[in-house]
Amino acid sequence: MSRKPIIAGNWKMNKTAAEAREFVEAVKLNIPSNELVDTVIGSPALFIEGMKKGVRNTELKVAAQNCYFEDFGAFTGENSPATLAALEVDYVIIGHSERRDYFHETDEDINKKAHAIFKNGMTPIICCGESLETYEAGKAEEFVGAQVSAALKDLTADQVASLVLAYEPIWAIGTGKSATQDDAQKMCKAVRDVVAADFGQEVADKVRVQYGGSVKPENIAEYMACPDVDGALVGGASLEADSFLALLDFVK
Ligand code: 13P
Repeated sequence: MSRKPIIAGNWKMNKTAAEAREFVEAVKLNIPSNELVDTVIGSPALFIEGMKKGVRNTELKVAAQNCYFEDFGAFTGENSPATLAALEVDYVIIGHSERRDYFHETDEDINKKAHAIFKNGMTPIICCGESLETYEAGKAEEFVGAQVSAALKDLTADQVASLVLAYEPIWAIGTGKSATQDDAQKMCKAVRDVVAADFGQEVADKVRVQYGGSVKPENIAEYMACPDVDGALVGGASLEADSFLALLDFVK
């Protein structure tokens, strides 16, 4: 089963609109064809409209880093999935460990967000991943499996086949301490096996699973060589144009 790789930068709460514009100008002519790889930037919501204008007629896609699960209403400070869809946002990252830890998002919230994103015609990138404590206790597969099952609850098989799951061990995020190739493969396969158990093998063969956590130009090729790793979700190494482009060299 061949799945198209998907490399997504997650800028987190970094860059001004002007810096984002400069970045897009610097990379846009060197992004490989969408036929080979999906290349995505997870932009802060404040300048997503400018990002969408900047990437017009390029191979770059734009993700939001979060959204709420209601379309409109009295939810001060939240970002509406309907508004993101009206801006033609392609993907929405949900369930990032920073959102779970700092903003107390639950598996149930993440599941509601996944439904709202599909309702609005966008594609979720759903993050999962265990803490160091859970990893060291040998409970990573069980913990991450439960996160994935809960996030996908009551979605259709077609929806699950089309979405992206990002396995990001919390202990590897922003620490420079990336998972070994074996751990990344084992965990991405475990994530796929949960999809197989819940939705069938055909769906599991289609869903794309990314590894994230201290991915850099120097180590991305070893992850991309794993049979169950279909891409990467990259924080720090996605911020500079040269480094972002170097992440895509594995396609050549
Ligand atoms: P780093 O690549 O900076 O470790 O961040 C990973 C991440 O959290 C992407 O969502």
